Amino acid sequence: MKKHILFVDDDPNINDGLRRMLRSFRNEWDMSFVTSGYEALELLEDGAYDIIITDMRMPGMTGNALLKEVKSRHPHMVRIILSGHSDNVSNMESVSIAHQFLSKPCDVDTLKVTITKACGMGEILKDRDLVQLVNGLKSIPSVPHLYTEIVRELENESNSIKKIGAIISRDIGMSAKVLQLINSAFFGLPKKVTCPETAAVYLGLETIKGLVLAAGVFSAFKKKDLEGLSIDRIWRHSMLVGSSAMKIAKEEGHSDQIIEASLLAGLLHDLGILVLSSNMPDKYEEVLKQVKENRCELWEAEKVVFGTTHCEVGAYLVGIWGLPWHLVEALAYHHRPSEAQLATFSPLLAVHVSDLLEMKFFDNQGIEDLTAAKLEVVSKAGFEDRLPIWRAICEETFNASDD
Ligand SMILES: [Fe+2]
Ligand SMILES: [Fe+2]
Repeated sequence: MKKHILFVDDDPNINDGLRRMLRSFRNEWDMSFVTSGYEALELLEDGAYDIIITDMRMPGMTGNALLKEVKSRHPHMVRIILSGHSDNVSNMESVSIAHQFLSKPCDVDTLKVTITKACGMGEILKDRDLVQLVNGLKSIPSVPHLYTEIVRELENESNSIKKIGAIISRDIGMSAKVLQLINSAFFGLPKKVTCPETAAVYLGLETIKGLVLAAGVFSAFKKKDLEGLSIDRIWRHSMLVGSSAMKIAKEEGHSDQIIEASLLAGLLHDLGILVLSSNMPDKYEEVLKQVKENRCELWEAEKVVFGTTHCEVGAYLVGIWGLPWHLVEALAYHHRPSEAQLATFSPLLAVHVSDLLEMKFFDNQGIEDLTAAKLEVVSKAGFEDRLPIWRAICEETFNASDD
C-alpha cells in the first residue's frame, strides 16, 4: 500500500524543490505539499497520512505548534522536522514532539532513507493502537533513583558532564533519548553515535539541563508496582545483558562500533517492557498473571494480551527515532532471532545469548544446561564452537555483579 506523506513549508520554492527531488518516488509514496500549518491540518482531516515533514519557522503557526496538533489529533503519524535553523536544537519543546530532525538543505539520499525507514517501521509494529501509543509518548520512564540522581547532579553548581553522562548511560530511557537527539541531522555528525556517554558530551550540560528540568523529557517510573515486574530487576538485567554482549563482541575481535552497538542493544533490548507496563499497567498485569499461571515467557503472554510483544514495541520506537538498523534488529528479534537474517555475527546474536543466559542465571537454573535447541540459531550462524567461551564470559559478568 502506498504511504501518504505530507510536506509543509511556507516557502513555495522549497516545496517545488522537494517535489522535483522526490519525483522518482511518486509510485511508492503519495506526496502532498502545503505552505502553512492551517492548510496541513485541514488536509489531514480528510485524508489518512502516515508521515508529516514540516519546516519549523513559519508565519502564523510554527512547526512546533503544528506538530503538537498532529500529535493530539493524529497520533499514529510519524513527525519529522526539516528545518534550516540550527537553534532549534535548543528548542526543547520539539524534542518531545518530533521523532526526527533533518536539516536544510537535505540531500535526496538522506530524505529517501529517512522516509523509507519510517515507512518500514509500520511493518514491525502493525497494531494501530500501539503505534498511536508509541508515537504519542512524551517520555520514557527512568529508574527512580537514577532520575533523582540526575536532577540532583544538574542542580549542583559544581556538576560535570562526565558524571551526568555516566548517570545517563546507566538508564535505559535516558540513553535512548540522548541518542535520538544526538543522531539527528542537526548535529551533522559524520557517523552515528551509539555511546550514551559520548552523546551526553556532544549535547552539553545546557541541553541536558533543558531536556531534564524544563522539557521533562525524562521522567521517573512511578506507575503502580506490578506484581512480578520490578523496574530494578529490568534495569539490572539490561545492564548485565549489555555488558556481556559487549564483552562477547570484543572477544570475537569486532570493531569498536560493533562493540559499542552490542552494549547499547543489550541496554535497550527490553525497552518495550517499560513502554507497555508504564502506559498500560492494567493490561500488563494480565500479562504477568498469564506468565504465572501458564508458566510461559513474558513475550508469549504479551502476544496473547497485546497481539504483539515488547520486542516490536521497542524496535519500532528506536526505529522511528532514526537509530541504526542493527539496534532496531536486536530489539525486534532478541527472543526470536531465527526470524532475522543471521548470516554473521551481529549485536542481535550477542544480545540473544546474553539475555537467555542472564535469565537462567537469575532463576538459579544454572547456565550450562541451556538447551542446544534454544541456542540453535547460534549454531546456524556458525558460532557453536564459540558458545562455551561466550557462556564463560556471561557467567563471569553475572557473578561479578553479585558481589
Ligand atoms: Fe526481552
Ligand atoms: Fe531481556
